[in-house]
Amino acid sequence: MTRVLMRLLLDATALVLLLLAFAYWWLGNFAHEVIGTALFLILARHLLNNRKWWSSLRRGRYHPRRAVGVALTFFLAVAMTVLLATSFAISRTTFAWIPLPDSFALREAHMFAAYWVMVLIGLHIGLNWQRVMMFAGKLGVAGPVWRWGGLAAGAIIALQGLRSAAVMDLWTRLRFDYSLVMWDFNSQAFQFVGHWMAIITLFAFGTHCITRALGMFPRRAAA
Ligand code: HEM
Repeated sequence: MTRVLMRLLLDATALVLLLLAFAYWWLGNFAHEVIGTALFLILARHLLNNRKWWSSLRRGRYHPRRAVGVALTFFLAVAMTVLLATSFAISRTTFAWIPLPDSFALREAHMFAAYWVMVLIGLHIGLNWQRVMMFAGKLGVAGPVWRWGGLAAGAIIALQGLRSAAVMDLWTRLRFDYSLVMWDFNSQAFQFVGHWMAIITLFAFGTHCITRALGMFPRRAAA
């Protein structure tokens, strides 16, 4: 029970740190680098917790859901690796002592990888929703009220996510293009975090619904 709770807490902390890492112009460079580094340490633990998944890759059959899941996890790993590798090079404080060449292109790669990470994390959560619900069930969060309440809340937040994606100019950023959207953290700091949470929910909820609609999950096990 404690292990399950710890794993859920760890993943939730990683999500909070990811959202905070995006508020670069609110928290400043030093806080950003510390938060980003902490996030990578938590991710290392997340990988260790799920190490069986990696070793099972060569075993068993690849049905559509598994193939999509593995492909998405691979893209997420690539985006995270770009984010981490560029972090070492562009760091101004925490890793500034590492003699790596910094460049404008590396800063761009860091930024664009970060926006793709946001989308891929949403897809990753959506694909693993069954497992999250299984963990939640072990903690007593189960039953029709939670299930339908969760679906209704997910649908409403996902709709907001569509609007938030427009507000944050997400589609432009995902095309590796420059956005003119600047955020006023003095008056709208919490809205910034809220918009990104809604965007992650949009991709998580969308993936969850699509995989269920396609009948990729056995009915009995569906959340
Ligand atoms: C995994 C977590 C991270 C995410 C999601 C992330 C995301 C971002 C984003 C979105 C920006 C652009 C801010 C903007 O201009 O709007 C940025 C900039 C920056 N990040 Fe990160 N970052 C992460 C980790 C790190 C780490 C670990 C370091 C260094 C130790 C770092 C160093 C920097 C620096 C120096 C900039 C400024 C680049 C410039 O001058 O244009 N980041 N990051």
